[in-house]
Amino acid sequence: MKVAIVKNAEEGSKLAAEIFIEQVKAKPATVLGLATGSTPVKMYKLLAEAYKAGEVSFKECKSFNLDEYLGLAPEHDQSYHYFMKTQLFDHIDIDQAQTNVPDGLATDIAASCQAYEDAITAAGGIDIQLLGIGSDGHIAFNEPGCSLACRTHSQVLTQQTIEDNARLFFGGKIEEVPTQAVTMGIGSIMDAKKVVLLAFGAGKQDAVVGLVEGPVTAMCPCSALQYHNDCIVICDEEAAGKLQQKEYYKYIFSQTGVSNI
Ligand code: GLP
Repeated sequence: MKVAIVKNAEEGSKLAAEIFIEQVKAKPATVLGLATGSTPVKMYKLLAEAYKAGEVSFKECKSFNLDEYLGLAPEHDQSYHYFMKTQLFDHIDIDQAQTNVPDGLATDIAASCQAYEDAITAAGGIDIQLLGIGSDGHIAFNEPGCSLACRTHSQVLTQQTIEDNARLFFGGKIEEVPTQAVTMGIGSIMDAKKVVLLAFGAGKQDAVVGLVEGPVTAMCPCSALQYHNDCIVICDEEAAGKLQQKEYYKYIFSQTGVSNI
């Protein structure tokens, strides 16, 4: 696992955007794995700016999002479909017919999850997966206790996640946050060729410790990424605040930069 500790979210977003832009330049038909939440917003803005400046084109890309709330239609302004459209897809040249977000309205959830997995496989697998992280160590909507091998599935959300997401979204109204979601599994995420995880702010400190230095355990689902062969964690000083080896990671980063660590 590579750990890049940057000054703040601004710098971290810039670094992540650079990694994605390089990836798409090197392989224009990149299969992108995309994430929602407040964390990637700035990075998406930078990707849109790079597209507008003519630095990169997403015309040949396909994308797969991690998750969606169960029961929310794509047009719902708190759905992840809507988030992706308004935060990224409407501002770049990706073919929106080639963008995929799990179906929150599926009647046969198991079949819909399998179809999602099949579509990822048919696309050749995810080349680069963006991740945020929940304060309880969840990635996508894989909550503590989930199988570390699971594939796309429906998941009951923890109270912590419901509270976190109400604070930032749903106008703070906890009763409006759906209690279940459909999410790519840890196994699906582990299959991505490259993983870039962003963690900003003091609220992510414990999750980052679990991710980087904790034992691999279902109680902290992101810890499974310790087994990923090409995973970079980009965190700001605040999120990195409790890492035991913080200074060592900084030293490595100063020596080798992002390409080589
Ligand atoms: C949700 C999403 C996750 C995201 C997390 C953190 O639970 N399903 O993919 O990482 O929120 O969100 P934020 O970036 O707003 O802290």
